[in-house]
Amino acid sequence: MGRITLDKVSKSFGDVEVIPPLDLTIEDGEFTVFVGPSGCGKSTLLRLIAGLEDTSCGHIRIDGNDATHVPPAKRGLAMVFQSYALYPHMSVRKNIAFPMKMAGVSEDEQARRIDAAAKALNLTDYLDRRPGQLSGGQRQRVAIGRAIVREPAAFLFDEPLSNLDAALRVGMRLEISELHKRLKTTMIYVTHDQVEAMTMADKIVVLRAGVIEQVGSPLDLYRAPRNTFVAGFIGSPKMNLIGGEEAARHGARTIGIRPEHIDVVEDSGTWQGTVGVAEHLGSDTFFHIHGTGLTETLTVRALGEVTLRHGDTIHLSPRTDQIHRFDAQGLRIE
Ligand SMILES: Nc1ncnc2c1ncn2[C@@H]1O[C@H](COP(=O)(O)OP(=O)(O)OP(=O)(O)O)[C@@H](O)[C@H]1O
Ligand SMILES: [Mg+2]
Repeated sequence: MGRITLDKVSKSFGDVEVIPPLDLTIEDGEFTVFVGPSGCGKSTLLRLIAGLEDTSCGHIRIDGNDATHVPPAKRGLAMVFQSYALYPHMSVRKNIAFPMKMAGVSEDEQARRIDAAAKALNLTDYLDRRPGQLSGGQRQRVAIGRAIVREPAAFLFDEPLSNLDAALRVGMRLEISELHKRLKTTMIYVTHDQVEAMTMADKIVVLRAGVIEQVGSPLDLYRAPRNTFVAGFIGSPKMNLIGGEEAARHGARTIGIRPEHIDVVEDSGTWQGTVGVAEHLGSDTFFHIHGTGLTETLTVRALGEVTLRHGDTIHLSPRTDQIHRFDAQGLRIE
């Protein structure tokens, strides 16, 4: 079990309100990602759920029980941080056993859970090593192992992969997703990386300045961002936002079109401009285009290798059914 509900939960530090009252439900077994720019309150929200911060107002319920004033250790949640916080003088086995020892779990049961966690995380061969003898990715797996053996109602992750290099991050991202598929335990995962959010989440919560801008599945947010903030935040490279006459022609203050929804055509496109930087990734080419009269830089994604160079004229044709329209307040027009 691990259904978590926040009911008008708010948080102030002194007289600064960093999270105005918000409502949120995380369903049992769901993988929820909190995403948003630095300082938007992701960690604070997670720490409120964990009980590491007191709420200023409102109620937190875990499986229907009011947990608002329950101390962290009694909430049945396990938190994994960016810094692994392992005990350097203890073996991996002892590090993983530690929370169970504290909770008075029997030796036999400890051994059973360590064995299962080590198997799930590919740590079986490393149980007798110390953290200093492990790679960053292995250490992060030990930290996750230590969370797993507590058999929590939910896992809370705060940017657990941001200390790892890019390749390892992608690997660990898959491992955590697979772990979730196997354990089916509620997971709340904080990141500022929208690619992590898109690839891992069942449900994404986009935060800005402590306010929930949108909640939905990755594809909901991709297909129908509620406002220009979510439109610009979800998707890589970013959605192009265009104002002025071009937007007015579509009955909007701002229109949005993703780089992958603009086709490069031979000639007589709807728009044209001059190629600035071209990023050749092999599988795709990203063109940063100037002089379109639409926006300072228009980003376009072409599949595969397109041999246009810096300074070339490029002809473009937006897929009109993929244009998003926003009003003067930046809210989506359906
Ligand atoms: N203990 C504290 N006292 C005062 N202000 C705090 C405290 N902790 C956090 N804040 C403020 O609350 C806001 C939200 O911080 P939080 O750490 O939740 O952001 P975040 O979204 O996790 O950012 P990041 O992506 O940089 O980790 C920030 O403006 C921060 O300065
Ligand atoms: Mg944070």
